[in-house]
Amino acid sequence: MDKLFQVLPTSKTMHPDVNVLRELRNQSLKDPEMFWEEVAEDLFWYEKSTPIYQEMDEPPYAKWFPNRKTNISYNALDRHISGWRRNKVAYYWEGENGERQVLTYNDLSKEVNKLASVLKRLGVKKGDRIAIHLPMIPELPISMLAALRLGAIHNVIFSGFGYQAIADMINDSKCKLIITADGGYRRGKIIEYKSVVDEAIERTMAVEKVLVVKRAGNKINFIEDRDEWYHELMESAESKVEPERLEGTAPSFIIYTSGTTGTPKGVTHSTAGYMVWAYFSQKVVFDTNDNDIYWCTADIGWITGHSYLVYGPLLCGATSVLYEGAPDYPKPDRWWEIVEKYGVTVFYTSPTSIRMHMKNGEIWAGKHNLSTLRILGTVGEAINPEAWDWYYRFIGQEKTPIVDTWFQTETGGIMISPQPGLAPLPLKKGSATFPLPGVDAVVLNEEGKQAEANEKGYLAIRKPWPGEFMTLWNDKSGFKTTYFTRFPGYYYAGDFAMQDEEGYFWILGRADEVLKVAGHRIGTIEVEDALLGHPMVAEAAVIGKADPIKMQVPVAFVVLKDAEAASAQLRMDLITHIKQTIGSIAAPASIYFVEMLPKTKNGKIMRRVVKAVVEEKSISDVTTIDDEASVEEASKAYESFKQELNLKKADIFQHYKE
Ligand code: WTA
Repeated sequence: MDKLFQVLPTSKTMHPDVNVLRELRNQSLKDPEMFWEEVAEDLFWYEKSTPIYQEMDEPPYAKWFPNRKTNISYNALDRHISGWRRNKVAYYWEGENGERQVLTYNDLSKEVNKLASVLKRLGVKKGDRIAIHLPMIPELPISMLAALRLGAIHNVIFSGFGYQAIADMINDSKCKLIITADGGYRRGKIIEYKSVVDEAIERTMAVEKVLVVKRAGNKINFIEDRDEWYHELMESAESKVEPERLEGTAPSFIIYTSGTTGTPKGVTHSTAGYMVWAYFSQKVVFDTNDNDIYWCTADIGWITGHSYLVYGPLLCGATSVLYEGAPDYPKPDRWWEIVEKYGVTVFYTSPTSIRMHMKNGEIWAGKHNLSTLRILGTVGEAINPEAWDWYYRFIGQEKTPIVDTWFQTETGGIMISPQPGLAPLPLKKGSATFPLPGVDAVVLNEEGKQAEANEKGYLAIRKPWPGEFMTLWNDKSGFKTTYFTRFPGYYYAGDFAMQDEEGYFWILGRADEVLKVAGHRIGTIEVEDALLGHPMVAEAAVIGKADPIKMQVPVAFVVLKDAEAASAQLRMDLITHIKQTIGSIAAPASIYFVEMLPKTKNGKIMRRVVKAVVEEKSISDVTTIDDEASVEEASKAYESFKQELNLKKADIFQHYKE
């Protein structure tokens, strides 16, 4: 491949490499059986029967590799250690305090086997759910792989969640065991893990055992019979555990994510389809090969971390960096120091992080030699042109392509992105470019017809793909109505999108009541429900406000049971309440006390009207279809809410703009 990429501001003629991708994708869609069988050849299977792809009458309309048997842990470890990769580095781990640990594939395999034997002894078996709430330390991927080795289903819970959110997830998936740590480090401070888990367990019935990793040495409350020290049990562990031979459609993990209801949804992934997708997308998007030093900065608690810090790179036999702490600690050049120290070649992060580094200034990146970098990636939100330019210029030094990758927790892995592993694609700033092979992405208009070029519509996927989630845990009907009802026969992604005349995809933000705060998905209704859980709150509406770094931040409008009780202290109490229950990621940037909220006849709060009023847009700029309100009703509500804000809280407009 001579040149990996070319940046096109606009191009009139179709670049030949676009046709290479188009041809490959057509083949994959025409004959999925043949295409995926060939990809699957790279991986190990205990049983290899066909068909690879079996249609179903109901969502998700397909089963992938239903008659095959495999194990992800075997593919990520044993497959490598039986060959030359045995002593290849799997992870360079760097602690926030500067500690280092190097784990080869053989080292990682030993730890995973030992932990699998510990879990087995504690009664964990195929199909059991176990929760993992750990900082970014090697024990986190080790725990995930050990669970999958036994066929247990892991539920990794992001470190930013509060005790109520953790309890809700554990209750929903009935996790019998949880692996956590005493504490972790973040910006030089110790973050408590165990005490939050203790609080969560008080609100659950399912958990029988807690395995505690000693990380920060902070004092914890150790409960005899229930709690065990990880390191103590590992001392007497067995060194080899045979991996469970799992059906292709056995669930591998659950990740809870936000949607348009008050409770998070347990997105459940398969074994074989997910594995093939993580492996394939890692290879084609990051062009992963044995010389790479690859670094994905995402937290493992999110799908990006699962697929591109654990499963994708390990299935490819890659060497990754795993960093525990904050991007700017102790100084703003911490990331760039790491890139230089390990000679990182492929670097994958979020637009929010780029904007944060941009704010600190390029001087920090300029202190380091970043010349090893050859591919840069972004994910989680659309990348604005200023951030794209900065990333390209100061990190990529105008030599590396930027792969803007679109995907979702539900899709398992990257769906739309440049694919330097397949063709040196011409890029357009801010476009995720083209779907991967197997991804039949389309933009639909309101009526469900394919939108014209440059027409904004809804992103949907027409055909099932291997990495597609299988269901929502405990919520089959929610699974159907959320994703497969809006446009019958399609997977509805919940994003606005557009295709230009050359077929490039442009992702234009969420089409539903989900915010993207620093790349994290936060349901406005979840935050509202948490506010309603406070004894002083009668009603609440949460909307997203544009933010220069985090893209969006939640802002809440609250009606109190007793209007006289409004105070700065109560505002603080409500924020603390959200931090403790959902977690700090959902904390509103501001809370405004109001006396009424715009509502439909049926009492449904019209968030779009709230948003239009505070953004000083006219009512005709907002559609109220989702509120099921008539135009007249919405206009009336708009006028009275405007009056309410104008009269009582004129400063809201000011604050909102700041
Ligand atoms: C958004 C994160 C624009 C989108 C991997 C999607 C993006 C949601 C991009 C999923 C991108 C992700 N450009 N928007 N490249 N990537 N998104 O489940 O709104 O945490 O629906 O998965 O992030 O968020 P999730």
